[in-house]
Amino acid sequence: MATQIDPVLDTMLDLAWRALANAHAPYSRFRVGACVRAESGRLYAGCNVENASYPVGQCAEATAIGAMVAAGDRQIVEAVIITEGAELCPPCGRCRQQLAEFAGRDARIHVAGPEGVRVTTTLGELLPMAFGPDTLGRPT
Ligand code: THU
Repeated sequence: MATQIDPVLDTMLDLAWRALANAHAPYSRFRVGACVRAESGRLYAGCNVENASYPVGQCAEATAIGAMVAAGDRQIVEAVIITEGAELCPPCGRCRQQLAEFAGRDARIHVAGPEGVRVTTTLGELLPMAFGPDTLGRPT
C-alpha cells in the first residue's frame, strides 16, 4: 500500500485494507473494504458481506456505517473505499444514499486501490440534489 501524505488517511486505508481481507465475498469474488472517519475522530472499518441469497448481501460502506452507529457516532467527515482490481470502484448508489444519512455534501470520499488513493471527491459530487435528513426536517 502506497503511503499518502495525510497520516490519518494512511490509517484509514490500512483499516479498510484489513477489513477487505476479511470480506465475505464467495459469490462475486469482489472484495471491498471501507473506512469512515467520524467527526469525533474515531475510525470505523467494514467489508462487504455477501449472502447465498444474493440480494441480501451488504456493501462494505454499510458495514462500516453500521459499526459507527453502533458505537454512538453519527457524523461522517471522510470515507475511503478500497478494492483490489485495476478498475475504479466508486460507492454504489445505495451506499451514496447511506453515506448521505450521516455525511454532509463536503465530506471527502476517497476511492482507492492497492497502490493508494485513485480519486478524491465529495459526497455532494457523488450524490447531487440528495434526498436526506434535511428533506424531512432532520428528525432525531
Ligand atoms: N460492493 C461494495 O461493497 N460497495 C460498493 O459500493 C459497491 C459494491 C460490493 C457488493 C458485492 O459484495 C460486491 O461488491 C460486488 O458487487
